[in-house]
Amino acid sequence: MSHSSPASAVPVGAARSLCSSSVATFGGRARVPGDKSISHRALMLGALAVGETEILGLLEGDDVRHTAAAMAALGALVIPGTDGGPWRVRGAGVGGLVEPDRILDMGNSGTAARLLIGVVSSHPITCFFTGDASLNRRPMARVTAPLERMGASFVGRAGGRLPLAVIGTDHPVPIEYRLPVASAQVKSAILLAGLNTPGVTTVIETHPTRDHSELMLRHFGATVTTESLPQGALAVSVTGQPELVGCRVQVPADPSSAAFPAVAALLHPGAALTLTAVGVNPRRTGLYQTLQEMGADLRFENPRTEAGEPVADLVIRGSALRGVDVPPERAPSMIDEYPVLAMAAACAHGTTRMFGLAELRVKESDRLAMVADGLTACGVSVEAGPESLFVHGTGRPPQGGARIVTAMDHRIAMSFLVLGTVSSEPVVIDDGSFIETSFPGFAALMNGLGARIEALDTHR
Ligand code: S3P
Repeated sequence: MSHSSPASAVPVGAARSLCSSSVATFGGRARVPGDKSISHRALMLGALAVGETEILGLLEGDDVRHTAAAMAALGALVIPGTDGGPWRVRGAGVGGLVEPDRILDMGNSGTAARLLIGVVSSHPITCFFTGDASLNRRPMARVTAPLERMGASFVGRAGGRLPLAVIGTDHPVPIEYRLPVASAQVKSAILLAGLNTPGVTTVIETHPTRDHSELMLRHFGATVTTESLPQGALAVSVTGQPELVGCRVQVPADPSSAAFPAVAALLHPGAALTLTAVGVNPRRTGLYQTLQEMGADLRFENPRTEAGEPVADLVIRGSALRGVDVPPERAPSMIDEYPVLAMAAACAHGTTRMFGLAELRVKESDRLAMVADGLTACGVSVEAGPESLFVHGTGRPPQGGARIVTAMDHRIAMSFLVLGTVSSEPVVIDDGSFIETSFPGFAALMNGLGARIEALDTHR
């Protein structure tokens, strides 16, 4: 593919259109930014605690900044870190949030919106939530239905989409709720509403999802119990109205962000890459297990625990990959990683069949469709079903040479830039600006490891 002006004076971080060209080698040592899920939760629990919370390694991405601004609007004192230093939050205490005098704009972040709707539902305040065009398309009934049972009420658009008014209750009632979809966001929204609710609030999940809320609630002093039920289901309960105590939270590097350089390294023969202090909570590592099954030389070294979360250094070497079947029950532990797995699958030998992907259709974009369309444009043979994706790899990197539509989705953008590091022709993405939501400095970090990701000056 030809593009008129490759590298330009446009700073890579601010660029919309980005071009990734193949490079012969990739590797080194790096630390990717802090975990997004844990960063949101640290700010929210810090705001609900008494005293000061110190957060080290907070992800300073746009999604988390929206949560920080919302917590300040709800009455917490949020002091940003300087030069990557710790952030501090002085909380209002459980039940102590105040009615904000502005609309809470959650930007692109489903986690920020859904968890905070849960938090404010059990406060006697009214809040107005909105987001960007991507977030305002995403389903919210999955949180408003159980929260209505706890006593909150909502005024929103059809399907419960944002913009949405949340009228919190001053008499919240505890519920027992079985999740109809495997969603840590829904589980967390209910548990966080349960914090300011007298009695015990219980969420039953058939397929266990990420448990960062549970771990961090305990870290702040709440009583959270889990009970194993038949067929692998779990009942998670929080005892309401505890006093949360401000504390120190060390945020691990995000395994979902580490996935991008990790896959880029795997695709380069001879590559050696170490990613330090990555969160390896078993509810998040489905991608790494899948890559190992595909033949990846990928190891977790130096395992340790930081603020209740398991952490390790990821050591990755370039590997010949083969296609595998990814079972549907693995989806909750790798839900955000299917786009980048599909890039690995496109270069693997044989077919990778991914099942149980219905939730991918309601992420920042319809990721199943965006991945299938983008890979097809890059010359890869794919079959997309309502809840499945088959990628037919040839054992060699694909042609590339396409301009990928990213639909306001950071992970679609980063996945195709990873593919461009090996494809025969460069891969261009239409809009890299959303990468800032989860992985500020992505292009610079990747280029520091040997990638060639450049801004395209589309105005020339
Ligand atoms: C998240 C849960 C997942 C994930 C999202 C972050 C969280 O969403 O896709 O990026 O922090 O709880 P669902 O719980 O809706 O699957």
